[in-house]
Amino acid sequence: MTDEALEDFPLTEVRKDTPGVNEVIHFNNCGSALPPTPVLETVISHLQREATIGGYEAADEAQNRLQNVYSSAARLIGAKPEEIAVVENATRAWDMAVYGYKFRVGDRVLLCRAEYVSNVIALLHLKKRYQIEIVLIEDDEYGQIDSNHLEEELKKGAAMVTLTHIPTSGGLINPAKEVGTLCTAYDTFFVLDACQSIGQVPIDVNDIGCDVLSATSRKYLRGPRGVGFLYVKNSALEEIEPPFLDLHAATWTDDNEYVINAGAKRFENWETNFAGKLGLGAAIDYALDLSIERTSLRLKKLAETLRSKLANIDRVSVHDQGQNKGGITTFSFEGLEGEVVSRKLGEQKINTSTTSSGAARYDLDYRGIPTVVRASTHYYNTEEEIDTFVAAVAKLGK
Ligand SMILES: Cc1ncc(COP(=O)(O)O)c(C=O)c1O
Repeated sequence: MTDEALEDFPLTEVRKDTPGVNEVIHFNNCGSALPPTPVLETVISHLQREATIGGYEAADEAQNRLQNVYSSAARLIGAKPEEIAVVENATRAWDMAVYGYKFRVGDRVLLCRAEYVSNVIALLHLKKRYQIEIVLIEDDEYGQIDSNHLEEELKKGAAMVTLTHIPTSGGLINPAKEVGTLCTAYDTFFVLDACQSIGQVPIDVNDIGCDVLSATSRKYLRGPRGVGFLYVKNSALEEIEPPFLDLHAATWTDDNEYVINAGAKRFENWETNFAGKLGLGAAIDYALDLSIERTSLRLKKLAETLRSKLANIDRVSVHDQGQNKGGITTFSFEGLEGEVVSRKLGEQKINTSTTSSGAARYDLDYRGIPTVVRASTHYYNTEEEIDTFVAAVAKLGK
């Protein structure tokens, strides 16, 4: 897809569909993006039905649309509907798979420097529980996972590789397909954290070759908060067992027996946020209608512009790594704490967020960066918003 494909991008329509753009300049899409009207209406109208006819009755009435959420999520990543579980968030999705993996004492887990903080905490927890060994794979000269080092460690034997596709702490897009190819070659279980990449870049699980993928609704998919999904490849179902089972995940077949239900829904639990689930479906459909290939191109182009303009400001350093960069721009301002920068921008209705090294020890701490301000573009942002943002940042130093 070329730059010309962006010339007829329906910017006016998508902004009309996004009430938040009239209130704020939103560069906190990697935190939680502004939802479009169809998502908002889906969530609100389901809550209204719950209030009008009853929660269980509203769920029964929406049965077909609830099933469609699985087909939409499957279509988004090239999976089958029965390989999708809708859960509370990306962390819980990742946990259900990784805590469910049948680790043996001494198993080696290989992870990248960009691995998300909660995933690392969970692995350290599992290390205490099962005496697994955690092996950190080095970055290459571009700051992305070093595939040579990964292969060296895979050759020694590993139970699992975990990769954060796009970290919370920067513009890097890790080469997930390269990692998937190596995991297939060495027959190693591959867990992909796609929390930031889902909706940001096109993802095809067959092309990447992951066994498991975790995703959230509220970030680049522009869905509601408090919902996410897990993909578990059919053939990987036997390798992991849900860490919790309830009446939705399993059937009580005899006084002392149960059978785990079919498909990835075994990783869900019975009670759920139905409005959120429908909202997730609406967000995915909205993203698919616009074409993620196209929206990805636009948001990356905006981020490139933002990075180059920020880099020209006195006392500003841009920190993004990777050969291939996405929509998250990270920077610091010499002499001003990241939180102060973000707060001062917030006072001007410009939304950003921060990540501190304590939440990215293998990445920011390793690079000696205490805090970064995250300014993340989405396709509904504009060049004018970037100019306003850059002018506001430049003024902070005056
Ligand atoms: C890379 C990455 N993984 C996982 C998560 C956790 O997602 P959630 O808050 O939906 O559990 C985040 C959240 O910022 C993230 O950036």
